[in-house]
Formats: sequence, structure tokens, C-alpha cells
Amino acid sequence: MHRTVICPGSFDPVTNGHIDIITRASMMFDDVIVGVFDNSEKHPAFSIEERIDFLNRTVGDIPNVRVIACDGLLAQCAKDMAATAVVRGLRAVSDFEYEFQMALINRKLNPELDTVFLASDSSYTYLSSSAVKNVASHGGDISNFVPAVIHDEVFNRINRKGNK
Ligand code: PNS
Repeated sequence: MHRTVICPGSFDPVTNGHIDIITRASMMFDDVIVGVFDNSEKHPAFSIEERIDFLNRTVGDIPNVRVIACDGLLAQCAKDMAATAVVRGLRAVSDFEYEFQMALINRKLNPELDTVFLASDSSYTYLSSSAVKNVASHGGDISNFVPAVIHDEVFNRINRKGNK
């Protein structure tokens, strides 16, 4: 059986933690769709095109990974892409309640859709896109948090915003 999964997220911006999860998913499943959502509650710092570009430059060379823009419901997007599971990283117990609720709602909306949680690598349990933006906005070093190929663009954009 050919297994396609979806790794959804805001990826604003993609972090080394996201890359770890996407890479590990690509080793477990036949095809991995990285679905980039516009989460209206989060007021993204980067446009969806920029976020997709960042992802393409970091995971785009993994042969079974494809990055796409998604809107609307994840459950529907997964169905449209013939994905049978959602893959999400779990960093800490604090992630669990939100992630569990999302998994159950998605399964109600699309009963064929499972959610697979991958435990974050211990070196990334503290990492989030929000933390990256916060550190960069204060001029802090984010080189351990985001891939080198996007570092300067992320840092310069956020730092300029933070210093306005
Ligand atoms: O990286 P994020 O912001 O934690 O990702 C959250 C995301 C995009 C996966 C989530 O907000 C989502 O699934 N959005 C699509 C809308 C949806 O399906 N809502 C119902 C499930 S709660």
C-alpha cells in the first residue's frame, strides 16, 4: 500500500525542528506533502509564498517531499491529496492538549484520517517559530534554530521589524 501523509503547519518560518520531523516522516512514508496553511489567528510574519520558498530550499531536495499551499480545513486538504495520515511533532506535554483536540476534530471531519505524532528530537523541544521571531526581533543569534540557507533572510526581516 502506497502511504501518503501530510505534515501541516504555519511554518512561519520553518525551523530546524520542523525539518527534523519532515525528514523523519519522509523515511517512514512513501510520500510526504508539506501543507502550508495561513493561520489567520497567527498574523504571519512571512507571506505564504515566502514560507513555501523557505521550505522548498530546505526540504525540497528530498525526493518524496512536496510543499504546497493549503487553505480551508486540514481534513479536506488531506482528502484532496489522498493523504491517510497527518504527521505532527510533539515537543512537550504542553503541546499535547491542542494536538490531541486537533487530531480528534480532524478524525471526526474525515474518519479515514489518522494522526501520527513524532516525538521531537530532544535538541529541538524548546524550539518554535514564535521563539525564533522573538529572539531575532531582539537581535539574538538564531543560527542554531533555522537552516543556514534561510538564516539571513529570516534574521534581517524580523530584526528590521523588531527595531522599528
Ligand atoms: O504550525 P501550526 O500553526 O501549529 O499549524 C496549525 C495548523 C495549520 C495545522 C492548524 O491550524 C490547521 O489545521 N489549520 C487548518 C484549519 C483546520 O483544519 N481547523 C480544524 C482543526 S482544529
